[in-house]
Amino acid sequence: MTQTAKPQLITSIVIVALFTIVPTIEAHARFQPYTIDDDEFNYLDFSSYELLQVMNPQGYGKVNELFFPKTTMISPGSSYFEPGINVEEDVPKITSLSTWMTDLKKYKKIAPLKINQIAIPGAHHAGLTYLLPLFESVQKIFRQFGLESDSGTFGLPKEYLFKIVNSLLVPHHHSVAQILEQGGRYLDLRVARDINDPQQIYLAHCFLSKIRLNDTLADINEFLNKNPGEIIFIDIPGDDGPLGTVGDSVPHQQIDHQIRKYIDSKFILSRKNISQPISTYGGIYFSSFEVNSTIDQIKIKGGWSMTHSDNPYDVIQNIQEYYENGSYLKQEPLDYDVLKCDPYITGTKDTMIQTIKYETLLQKYDQPVDPLINARFIPANLKSTAQLTNPLFYNSVYRSKVLTQVLNIIEMDDFNSGNAIRAIEININRYYP
Ligand SMILES: *[C@@H]1O[C@H](CO)[C@@H](O)[C@H](O)[C@H]1NC(C)=O
Ligand SMILES: *[C@@H]1O[C@H](CO)[C@@H](O)[C@H](O)[C@H]1NC(C)=O
Ligand SMILES: *[C@@H]1O[C@H](CO)[C@@H](O)[C@H](O)[C@H]1NC(C)=O
Ligand SMILES: *[C@@H]1O[C@H](CO)[C@@H](O)[C@H](O)[C@H]1NC(C)=O
Repeated sequence: MTQTAKPQLITSIVIVALFTIVPTIEAHARFQPYTIDDDEFNYLDFSSYELLQVMNPQGYGKVNELFFPKTTMISPGSSYFEPGINVEEDVPKITSLSTWMTDLKKYKKIAPLKINQIAIPGAHHAGLTYLLPLFESVQKIFRQFGLESDSGTFGLPKEYLFKIVNSLLVPHHHSVAQILEQGGRYLDLRVARDINDPQQIYLAHCFLSKIRLNDTLADINEFLNKNPGEIIFIDIPGDDGPLGTVGDSVPHQQIDHQIRKYIDSKFILSRKNISQPISTYGGIYFSSFEVNSTIDQIKIKGGWSMTHSDNPYDVIQNIQEYYENGSYLKQEPLDYDVLKCDPYITGTKDTMIQTIKYETLLQKYDQPVDPLINARFIPANLKSTAQLTNPLFYNSVYRSKVLTQVLNIIEMDDFNSGNAIRAIEININRYYP
């Protein structure tokens, strides 16, 4: 990139950043996407993220009131914003992230759609905000990684081991109740039973949290009571983490029982509802916990775009390629109900080792280092890497017709209102071009 190209690039970055955060959705349609070459790629995404931070200093704060204004602020081809261009009457206006689906469903272009025609923000390992690692198991993991020293796990204090395990395995700052209020409508709930007390089912990822499945279901039910027009997906796969798990897998009878006990029967949707217009219903689709369950489960086509890479750029590129080369259409079997893509990194053994070493070395720092600077050094830290992967993913979506048209469930780490808005915006770009 030459020096003279810079001012234009920076202007474009400002535009891209503003577009990705300011919900003047209709403006997207008029915006000629700025094409960038590979050299500029890194620069663009890092910078736009920084701008996002400046513009949205609250970070992942809760957004209660979100308006899509009726006047747009962009004029085609100009490099600055100007007010006053009228847009069509029927561009959706969303009043709150708690009711975004209910709001969208009021519009005539959206009302007749099926749920698998909508872009839906979701959370990978939803609601998992901490884990309680067992010291012995952490030692086992360190040993597995060849990291154990004479003094056990480097003689590190237990609190510090706790911090490392949480950095590798915990993807969220927000609870399920908060994720729902922030717009999340797909929840991947990984659960396991306490070996010593099998009646207790907790959210888990290799280790157990103390966040109970029953309390989580009760929160979801309460949310639907307040917002009955919203449609939620609850995926309950077993906890099959790469490092093994200290919990027991949960028999489907126990999951069925909790669902029937904590979720109002009127909210439990059947597979048949998938073909009904979204404007006619609200509730929950369940999926993944077992074939013999008494709950009529839907089928999610997912996992296929998993990159198994710890590099955010590879993850995004793989997803984009997968959709753009049509591979997702050819996938067998085709009898699925919803599509899911997973723009999150998967730590490999090597990067987990690097991460442990890096975070161990940096233990003297209390404050987390800016992920945009150190993502490459702490590649397996789920939350910080997601702060790079999520904006990068949405920037790719906004530049890709195919992604804009076909995305359905988008499963993210580090869920927050900012990335929820970006997923919801895809629907406006798709149906109000
Ligand atoms: C969930 O189960 C625990 C333990 O059995 C119980 O104390 C708690 O009240 C239950 N939560 C709800 C919402 O009923
Ligand atoms: C879901 O589908 C079933 C079976 O077709 C139907 O009885 C039910 O009313 C539908 N639920 C909603 C909430 O529309
Ligand atoms: C489901 O039930 C059938 C019939 O009882 C049984 O043969 C099968 O093993 C069960 N499947 C699972 C995964 O438990
Ligand atoms: C399409 O992209 C995916 C993901 O990168 C890749 O695995 C697949 O081989 C590609 N297929 C074709 C036909 O190029």
